[in-house]
Amino acid sequence: MVQSAQGRASGKIILMGEHSVVYSKPAIALPFAAVQVLTTVTETTGDLSVNCAFYDGLVHEMPKVYESLKHAIRFSLYRLGVSQNPAIHIEITSTIPAERGMGSSAAVAVSVARALFSFYDKELTAKELWDIAQSSERIAHGNPSGVDVTTISREQSVYFVKDEAIEVLNLDLPAYLVVADTGKIGHTLEAVQHVADWMEMENEGTADLYFSPQGHIEALGQLAKTSKKALLNQDIKTLGDCMNQAQTYLVDLGVSDKGLDRLVVAARQAGALGAKLTGGGRGGCMIALVESLTSAKKIAVKLKESGATQAWLQSLGASSDEKLLQGDFFKGDV
Ligand code: MEV
Repeated sequence: MVQSAQGRASGKIILMGEHSVVYSKPAIALPFAAVQVLTTVTETTGDLSVNCAFYDGLVHEMPKVYESLKHAIRFSLYRLGVSQNPAIHIEITSTIPAERGMGSSAAVAVSVARALFSFYDKELTAKELWDIAQSSERIAHGNPSGVDVTTISREQSVYFVKDEAIEVLNLDLPAYLVVADTGKIGHTLEAVQHVADWMEMENEGTADLYFSPQGHIEALGQLAKTSKKALLNQDIKTLGDCMNQAQTYLVDLGVSDKGLDRLVVAARQAGALGAKLTGGGRGGCMIALVESLTSAKKIAVKLKESGATQAWLQSLGASSDEKLLQGDFFKGDV
């Protein structure tokens, strides 16, 4: 055991396939290093305590709403085989905006597990990390597909299909994503439930005759497949078209909202090749695809003028120069 240890995790962006991924359709997701969580574990003389943006106190007194974090701590301790009330303090600092579709809850669980295993000087296997973070996500989001935990714990861009082998994508596209925050808390659990209700109504034959949620889920899955080909062929135009089409299906499914729609329209008007919400929706963040850094900056400014509270740039290129942009461009503030 060391006296202090740290664990980090970055956020994630879903490029294509949110919601349809819950129904075993493919999704494409990227780690998003511009926003990060850092967990520091230190030895203390008192009971197990935690400090984060929302809570400062003893773990066993944490209110129910922080159950997923409490679970990540307790499950990690259980897997470590140490007491459930060790004399340690857990400090969590994060630049990932919470509940904005950027994987904040999964990243917190991953960073907590990493910090605790490092503190007790035990190897954290990929399987153990997955088990801890995914079970914490079940508390936060009900029945998560696993795309968030996979992307964040592997720190790799992935083509993800629930319960299937993960395909790592080595992105090498001369393009950028502008990621913008509506500033409004997203409602992943509610949005996932809304889609589930539609699906059930269709199965029971009580859905609107002119609207097939199953058809929309199928179409979103197809768009993710086409997007993967476009990524591999460096076909930015097709990728942008897929993003625009996906947004139409997501709006129809009822998981977008006015703030997201406004930013999507603003990005397209400012020249984005494609724009859509990212993550659970109903608030949270959107992404826009552009060909050059100059357009990316222009669109980020336009999005800010249209109400975005923060914007970041993410390179889709493979070179080390391109990757540098991922870290701290605009520092979340345009
Ligand atoms: C949330 O980041 C993505 C959703 O598809 C839910 C999930 O995959 O569990 C909306």
